[in-house]
Amino acid sequence: MCGIFAYQWHKPATPILEHGLQRLEYRGYDSAWLAVFTDQWQALLVRAVGKVSELSKKIEWQKSITDLTVYTSGIAHTRRATHGGVTEENTHPHHDTDHHFYVVHNGIIENQRKLKDELESEWYVFYGQTDTEVIPALLAKYWTGDLYQTVQKVLPLLHGAYALLIKSSYCPDEIIGVKRGSPLLFALHPETQEFFFSSDAQALAGYASQIIYLDDGELLHLKNKEYTITSEKWIIQRNPTTLDVWAMEASKWDYEHFMLKEIFEQSAIMRRILMGRVDFAHKTLMAEAFHGMHDEAYERIVLVGCGTSYNAALVWAYWIEHLTGISAKAEIASEYLNKLIPTDVKTLHIFLSQSGETADSIEVLKYIKERWWKTFGIVNVVWSTIAQLTDHGLFMRAGYEIGVASTKAFLGQLTCLFLLTLWLGKRRSMALSTYNALLEELQHIPNKIDQILQTFDLSQEQDTIRTHISSHIQSASTMFYLWRGREYPIACEWSLKMKEISYIHSEAYPAGELKHGPLALIQSTTPSCLITLDDEFFSQNISSLAEVQARKGTIIAIANDQLPQAEYTIVIPRTHSLLAPFLVTIAMQLLSYQTAYSLGREIDKPRNLAKSVTVK
Ligand code: AGP
Ligand code: GLU
Repeated sequence: MCGIFAYQWHKPATPILEHGLQRLEYRGYDSAWLAVFTDQWQALLVRAVGKVSELSKKIEWQKSITDLTVYTSGIAHTRRATHGGVTEENTHPHHDTDHHFYVVHNGIIENQRKLKDELESEWYVFYGQTDTEVIPALLAKYWTGDLYQTVQKVLPLLHGAYALLIKSSYCPDEIIGVKRGSPLLFALHPETQEFFFSSDAQALAGYASQIIYLDDGELLHLKNKEYTITSEKWIIQRNPTTLDVWAMEASKWDYEHFMLKEIFEQSAIMRRILMGRVDFAHKTLMAEAFHGMHDEAYERIVLVGCGTSYNAALVWAYWIEHLTGISAKAEIASEYLNKLIPTDVKTLHIFLSQSGETADSIEVLKYIKERWWKTFGIVNVVWSTIAQLTDHGLFMRAGYEIGVASTKAFLGQLTCLFLLTLWLGKRRSMALSTYNALLEELQHIPNKIDQILQTFDLSQEQDTIRTHISSHIQSASTMFYLWRGREYPIACEWSLKMKEISYIHSEAYPAGELKHGPLALIQSTTPSCLITLDDEFFSQNISSLAEVQARKGTIIAIANDQLPQAEYTIVIPRTHSLLAPFLVTIAMQLLSYQTAYSLGREIDKPRNLAKSVTVK
């Protein structure tokens, strides 16, 4: 959520910052700005409410009246407001009354009200409403004549999560970056002596060759061309990592949206996740991949996640209880601390997160760690906070996911979780025949995913999703995703995906429960998607179908064959019933994408949403 980017010298900073902001756009934001400086601290500030493209228009205009090439360092930010409206005045950097300190901030200062009250009682006058503004005010109050010392005095006063960049007119050749709870990394290009700060590594593609990932509580002080890293006031040594930033270049290839590209990548990603972890020829799982799962003393598993990651947790809770006999429960991270969840040293906590930076999940993780309970992470972004804080883990290997709506990361989570199920199952109560059958079928899933993807005809000529179903759904007032038994999590994920990108309201509902109330909503403008596979629920599902149609509702069935009773069918290949989520997922992603596409939605960056939700 929101992005910070900074560049220190000596090339024209404006295009570099603008490009950095474009790369960070996917994280979600509501306004953007950049501030560039000459070597003599002459500053130029450009800001815009809305997209980075709005900011670019203003930069173009500036170019026509100013020589921007003399500005050789700068800071920039895509803001996502937490305090104070979305206005140009509230964009950062925020400064003190005398304009000596400039601060860029990602996150929230939770005790800002108390700090502001104290400063106001000393006659300090704030010009805006953001929590950030309190930081330059405190820097001015505690100024010692040394930027580093002053920042060290102020940091203990701030409560909350933040990534900060601090500059001062007293020392134009210095910049300080601080990370506590929000992402921030430092990068450099030693040959050209250029330095960068960024919220993620991807934005640095093509600029920096080395990277330093900062841990929570660390401060990086760059003074001219020297930098030091301090943790809790102790100077620490941290060697830069060489980063293949070129490989990180996020490109849509020939797809119109990142989301579509990411949907189409999924069979390849699944093959990559399985590689080196499963030996299909000998029907074995490679032990070293499951490091951290060796200790089988725990009696229950609690899975923690948000949104799509929570839905993946729900799928797993079903698999694990059904196949291993271990008690497993999925918990929504933001609710975890509000509930009395029975847990102890015999409970393993698994954290699921694409970004590894979700504040709600990190809060629970810290709570668990304070009690020394065991943690395991299934995370996509290597070096992310959750990846670093958990005791052990499995990386998803899904690659950069840019679309706000999570697709390939969900499939990556399911794949990792399924492998963990087999790993634990083999050591618990799973019959060898079940283990062998599941492993055998798992091998075929990527090809079956390809089969579904092939039916999605990009030329739009003969494909029912593109030509018929999505246009029917477009005019829906609300929708239902009807499920039975183990299909519940996938129906929830489908409903979430449709909501976030098409803005059509929907509910995942147990099909048998319709008659107890929601049937009152069914009419010709209320389509229902019904998961009707060849399984033990088939005949009950056909009854539900008739129940909906009798009220003039339309049925879109996900089935293993064309279903003559349904108005529309999306056919998916047959598989083992426990592996069906992998295939239903692909169909539901395609339909959600196409509906949003037909409605002309901003698919990769839906309104009000952020890719990585780093505030609580
Ligand atoms: C998914 O489509 C959503 N954008 C959202 O629910 C997301 O899954 C959630 O915010 C959790 O993110 P994480 O996996 O990065 O922790
Ligand atoms: N809390 C700050 C604000 O509202 C920073 C928000 C952000 O993370 O962009 O301005």
